Amino acid sequence: MDKLIVKGKKPLHGNVEISGAKNAAVAILPAAIMANKGISNIENIPEIEDVHCIERILKSLGCRVKKQKNSITIDSTAMNNFVADTDDVRKMRASYYFIGALLSRFKKARVELPGGCPIGVRPIDQHIKGFEALGAEVSIEHGAVIVKANKLIGTNIFFDVVSVGATINVMLAATLAEGVTVLENVAKEPHVVDVANFLNSMGADIKGAGTDIIRVKGVKELKGCSYSVIPDQIEAGTYMIATAACGGQVTINNVIPKHLESISAKLIEMGATVIENGDSVTVKSNGKLKSVNVKTLPYPGFPTDVQQPMSTTLCVSKGRSIINESIWENRFKHVDELKKMGAHIKVEGRTAIVDGVDKLTGAVVKATDLRAGAAMVIAGLIAEGTTEILGIEHIDRGYPHIENKFKCLGADIKRVRI
Ligand code: EPZ
Repeated sequence: MDKLIVKGKKPLHGNVEISGAKNAAVAILPAAIMANKGISNIENIPEIEDVHCIERILKSLGCRVKKQKNSITIDSTAMNNFVADTDDVRKMRASYYFIGALLSRFKKARVELPGGCPIGVRPIDQHIKGFEALGAEVSIEHGAVIVKANKLIGTNIFFDVVSVGATINVMLAATLAEGVTVLENVAKEPHVVDVANFLNSMGADIKGAGTDIIRVKGVKELKGCSYSVIPDQIEAGTYMIATAACGGQVTINNVIPKHLESISAKLIEMGATVIENGDSVTVKSNGKLKSVNVKTLPYPGFPTDVQQPMSTTLCVSKGRSIINESIWENRFKHVDELKKMGAHIKVEGRTAIVDGVDKLTGAVVKATDLRAGAAMVIAGLIAEGTTEILGIEHIDRGYPHIENKFKCLGADIKRVRI
């Protein structure tokens, strides 16, 4: 096991390269098994534990998987296993995409119920509603989701809540169904669009991804393709927020600025400067920020996945900030850790009231989940003294080489074996 040791109070300067999007990659890799012909070559894959987990699941299902630096080739032509039941499946949330992908290809699947960050109840009722509407029988037995269908038939599905996972999963299932499926009240996140683009590159007929309605015209088969995953909106947002909090000037490269608009707008409101330049954004700050109110919302609203990093920054911003977490009911576990460092935060249900203090001071803290881990790194970077961050296996699930990227920006941060 490792921990991070951060010595704070250093402004950040330089350039940082953003990796491929975790939440796109963990859906695109399972979707690749839907091809019964050809090999897929997927590039811009982030070097993170969640991707390693998916790679092992793909192998356990009988795919041939070859990893080279940031690309993966997947040959799923000979696979015939529709049971995903390894420890890796139970460990991560995104393993639920194997339900939709296997159902689509084999018209049956057995997938152990997914795990993931402990940030709320995380139901999959909308995924199940979609599969059933397409004609599948769904049951949950001994901790596994079992789906089967004689055939899947396109239909109209109106989701009760806007869900990234349900939108993608049902889109996967509908891709090889008979006829047309219309999905309404869908998620519009950049990774939803990326998965639709990937499926279309394999031969699918999907229109409307990125709007409220997705129309999937079923096709008979898919074949492998070459594809490059979009940059990670959340990793980029994390470095933007860190720069605003620490002060300095950092250019964040390999991003799609459009995907970052809600984060840029908030940082500007707080007093930082954000300049878009093609496929990069530059953030400048003197580290003295104003309080703001933040409400997390589905895209294009402010992303829940950077709420925790943002809340750290608000701890040292002037005045009172109110954070409303509207997506997950339990995404303030990092608050107790921030309090150990001197933060003044009061949590009432889904709302956190943050009263800015002059400084945070280093302490031993833990990453309670992935984005809480990023929040702790930022806390360490802005705090006086030394911060030790435990539980960094959570961070490794979703942030490639976080300590190296921050080190290149001038931070004093190192990883040590415990
Ligand atoms: C995805 O989770 C992301 N994970 C999450 O990122 C992210 O926080 C979330 O979308 C929202 O943007 C992956 O992409 C692997 P949802 P997902 O279904 O798909 C409710 C990170 O840090 N809901 O959009 O599981 C649910 O309870 C992770 O990278 C239902 O009620 O989230 C929540 O309140 C953490 N029924 C809301 O919808 C369902 O069937 C949004 O959840 C499904 C969801």
